[in-house]
Amino acid sequence: MAFHRAPKAKQKPRSSIIYLVIAVAAISLLFLVSSLLSTNGSLFSYNASEYIAKLKRPKYRPTGNEKYLYWGNKIDCPGKHCDSCEGLGHQESSLRCALEEAMFLQRTFVMPSRMCINPIHNKKGILHQQASNESSDERWAANSCAMDSLYDMDFISETVPVILDNSKLWHQVLSTSMKLGSRGIAHLEGVNRVELKENDRYSNLLLINRTASRLSWFMECKDRNNRSAIMLPYSFLPSMAAANLRIAAEKIKARLGDYAAIHVRRGDKIKTRKDRFGVERSLHPHLDRDTRAEFILHRIAKWVPPGQTLFIASNERTPGFFSPLAARYKLAYSSNYSNIIDPLIENNYQLFMIERLILYGAKTIIKTFKEDNTDLSLTDDPKKNTKLWQIPVYTMDEE
Ligand SMILES: *[C@@H]1O[C@H](CO)[C@@H](O)[C@H](O)[C@H]1NC(C)=O
Ligand SMILES: *[C@@H]1O[C@H](CO)[C@@H](O)[C@H](O)[C@H]1NC(C)=O
Ligand SMILES: *[C@@H]1O[C@H](CO)[C@@H](O)[C@H](O)[C@H]1NC(C)=O
Ligand SMILES: *[C@@H]1O[C@H](CO)[C@@H](O)[C@H](O)[C@H]1NC(C)=O
Ligand SMILES: *[C@@H]1O[C@H](CO)[C@@H](O)[C@H](O)[C@H]1NC(C)=O
Repeated sequence: MAFHRAPKAKQKPRSSIIYLVIAVAAISLLFLVSSLLSTNGSLFSYNASEYIAKLKRPKYRPTGNEKYLYWGNKIDCPGKHCDSCEGLGHQESSLRCALEEAMFLQRTFVMPSRMCINPIHNKKGILHQQASNESSDERWAANSCAMDSLYDMDFISETVPVILDNSKLWHQVLSTSMKLGSRGIAHLEGVNRVELKENDRYSNLLLINRTASRLSWFMECKDRNNRSAIMLPYSFLPSMAAANLRIAAEKIKARLGDYAAIHVRRGDKIKTRKDRFGVERSLHPHLDRDTRAEFILHRIAKWVPPGQTLFIASNERTPGFFSPLAARYKLAYSSNYSNIIDPLIENNYQLFMIERLILYGAKTIIKTFKEDNTDLSLTDDPKKNTKLWQIPVYTMDEE
């Protein structure tokens, strides 16, 4: 007993010293935190108007020593097929290819001032999942839109200077180039970019007017096996969205809070055709199955915890198509934020731009197809398949 008592008696003063030290430390920490809060309050409180001001980019001002590169007044109109156009992603690949050439040549790129809109990709119904049936087939009327209603030209110019082909500057460049004659402008076809850069017949010209591949602008960038020659990532143009679209996306992201996102491509991608025996075949045999709610639920369970907010971007327009996912997740669509989006947009390309920014802002993003090694995807079918038509699979056991 005595043996036990002695150390206890000794311990008492020591432990009260420890308590005192802890108390002093806690009080000084509290003072430190409160002083940080008062001097640096913006670190702790989100100021939306300050943030929005940061999204706006400073105006691009040319120095006057620029040289220019022009590929025509319509993306993917290399002399033919000018009456139709492809979807936004396809046209972006072409635009990116042209911008890369301008970077390579250190020239200002003259952008078409309008982008063609493919009517297939411009159905209004996509916005409202629960829309009444009368509006579900309504389309936006426009078959083109202003380029600067999609992209922020000043923001793009921070990476590669651009001007629009309806600008005053472009008209000045044109008239100067005419006056300079053969030193001012050349109309070229089939000259590769290395030659354009290194041959001083071309490199000194004020304006290179170039006709791109007869097939599509992006064919000019097609056979680049050298990956380090790729100067702009796929994400470049999506991230260059016009300021009002980026602001809308930021507002929606703030409301979504912590969220996961899935991009579900059905529509055009689940198309089937009959072979000569009358059997339906598809280029993506598992896609129709893999993009149905019950399969999505199964597939994403390991990536998205129950109860999480799940943002769904899709071209599927059947009302309630994704509702079974609500059993495990809090579902959100762009239609939930129509008060932010509707006053802003005039076509589906603008909606796609906003949705893409929301998708890329997610904590976890699951795409339809695996595009990169690190991508999470809804299906294992390859995205690019143009030859092999297979019988669609709907059962689970087959895997
Ligand atoms: C946010 O920042 C802006 C610009 O600096 C300022 O005018 C505004 O009062 C701030 N708002 C809040 C709530 O702090
Ligand atoms: C949808 O269509 C059906 C059949 O045409 C019609 O009876 C119904 O009233 C429509 N619903 C709405 C909300 O317009
Ligand atoms: C560019 O070249 C094409 C093909 O030679 C020609 O049709 C077009 O008018 C030229 N554009 C300008 C702005 O000179
Ligand atoms: C790949 O491209 C880079 C950048 O353009 C260049 O420096 C390099 O020499 C190229 N490599 C090959 C093997 O062509
Ligand atoms: C989005 O709208 C649907 C249907 O009105 C609703 O069930 C859901 O809770 C909404 N989601 C969010 C995140 O507000």
